Amino acid sequence: MRILLTGGSGMVGRNLLDHASAREYEILAPRSRELNLLDREAVAEYLRENKPDLLIHAAGRVGGIQANMADPVGFLVENTQMGVHVINEAYRAGISHCINLSSSCVYPRNAPNPLSEDQILTGELEPTNEGYALAKITAMRLCQYISQISGSAHYTTLIPCNLYGRHDKFDPANSHMIPAVIRKIHEARQSNASSVEIWGDGEAQREFMYVEDLADCVFSVAEKMRIGDEVPDVMNVGIGRDYSVNEYYQAVASVIGFEGEFVHNLSKPVGMRQKLIDSTKINQLGWMPSTELSVGIEKTYRFFLEEVTNG
Ligand SMILES: NC(=O)c1ccc[n+]([C@@H]2O[C@H](COP(=O)([O-])OP(=O)(O)OC[C@H]3O[C@@H](n4cnc5c(N)ncnc54)[C@H](OP(=O)(O)O)[C@@H]3O)[C@@H](O)[C@H]2O)c1
Repeated sequence: MRILLTGGSGMVGRNLLDHASAREYEILAPRSRELNLLDREAVAEYLRENKPDLLIHAAGRVGGIQANMADPVGFLVENTQMGVHVINEAYRAGISHCINLSSSCVYPRNAPNPLSEDQILTGELEPTNEGYALAKITAMRLCQYISQISGSAHYTTLIPCNLYGRHDKFDPANSHMIPAVIRKIHEARQSNASSVEIWGDGEAQREFMYVEDLADCVFSVAEKMRIGDEVPDVMNVGIGRDYSVNEYYQAVASVIGFEGEFVHNLSKPVGMRQKLIDSTKINQLGWMPSTELSVGIEKTYRFFLEEVTNG
């Protein structure tokens, strides 16, 4: 089976390429400079020439609250174009299978938790990353329409909860919560700071999955597609429980050995109060995550020390 993996140099993409199952497939993973997904013609030509059996769409313009709020136009336009170009051109080129990666920001801000797939498009989105969410919803719907109108194409969307792990971004300008907390607490420990600031009251609940578990899930779905098993068109992929922001800070502090205190800055935005997804469908398909939070944080911190701080 030949796979075209978009976003192969990103956090998700690199974990897919590092996964043991990657050896069982021929995987094409062009960088954006080799295949710019904003260039529809180039995408069409690449697909015609290489004819993969499966598209895994893991490319995107991805960032935290600050990056999203600073450039909502870029997040909406680039993610919409990337998704529509590669998914629609894959369909036009006769590619029979697709795994499209979405994000839990597609859920309405006031939807009751745990969030199940049928709640998408039932209410207002969280404004801090609305542009990104609209782009992700468009790509998901496109996959659903393609599967509905074609007798032979199976285009599935996976909606992971928040992710963290090896190859994460640790730069405060575009990092997500766990890598940002790792850097902050690491630096506080290095400088013997007595306290670390937490945005908001720290009571907001978040679900984070170790990214190697997502890679494992993607290959498990790819294998089901390869053998012709039925796969739902949209599936959440989470760990089935969430922790408060304060608990994540404590978990990171205990891995790093920071013994100072935490100070809450109530003037900063916190986003949604809770975002726990319902992973029943993917669990029923036979897949479960396996990495405990403390183990995932330890592996991520080791990656940060070895690859980011070189020490
Ligand atoms: N990170 C998370 O917490 C999280 C959570 C849920 C869902 N997801 C989803 O998972 C997917 C991957 O996220 P990630 O965290 O791995 O992102 P990432 O680390 O920021 O990587 C982004 C990838 O997209 C590629 N890319 C960006 N612009 C491109 C373009 N114009 N043409 C071709 N490729 C382009 C980049 O390629 P180059 O490096 O070659 O430019 C890079 O490989 C996204 O769909 C995201 O929504 C992520």
